[in-house]
Amino acid sequence: MSEKSKALEVILSRRSIRSFENKPLNDAIFEHLLKAAMAAPSAHNQQPWEFIIIDDRKLLDEIPTFHPYSKMLLGAPAAILVCAKKDYIKDEDLWPQDCAAATENILLAATALNLGSVWLGVYPKKALMDGLSKTLGLQENVIPFSLIALGYPAKTKEPSNRYDSSRVHRNGW
Ligand SMILES: Cc1cc2nc3c(=O)[nH]c(=O)nc-3n(C[C@H](O)[C@H](O)[C@H](O)COP(=O)(O)O)c2cc1C
Repeated sequence: MSEKSKALEVILSRRSIRSFENKPLNDAIFEHLLKAAMAAPSAHNQQPWEFIIIDDRKLLDEIPTFHPYSKMLLGAPAAILVCAKKDYIKDEDLWPQDCAAATENILLAATALNLGSVWLGVYPKKALMDGLSKTLGLQENVIPFSLIALGYPAKTKEPSNRYDSSRVHRNGW
């Protein structure tokens, strides 16, 4: 393709960034990220999501005590927890896909805004879900789904170019 759209450039350049500058994110940035999140498609348009902005240093530092792959939060100025609220769920089987789509939209919006981000898995790992529910005081009807560490990148990464035409099939295997 000779001319790539801006959206494609963002999608192809997104990488997991795990080191950040010591610089806070302002509220306008969180609003952009969460508008992108809530623009995601969802089954039956159920929009099962709720989001928690975490920028309290004490809370960010507590998460790695129970989430083994989240050490980058010790140096991150913020994170967003993507949750589902049971009251909104119409399709029990499909809400995780909805929350995953919202999560990816946040990563892509962050990339478009020159922020670094990384998706930290939470659901369906019970210990991680329980840890976040306790740390952030989630009500029983709120399911923590994914956590996204965010900040201005201290390091950048090259696009990964994982395209593999041997994985692509047409009209059947
Ligand atoms: C469901 C899911 C869970 C993930 N959990 C973690 C995590 O707990 N900690 C982490 O550092 N990265 C996590 N990642 C990021 C992956 O390690 C990363 O996307 C993968 O290595 C590919 O690298 P890239 O994002 O730079 O393309 C997770 C990604 C996904 C989609």
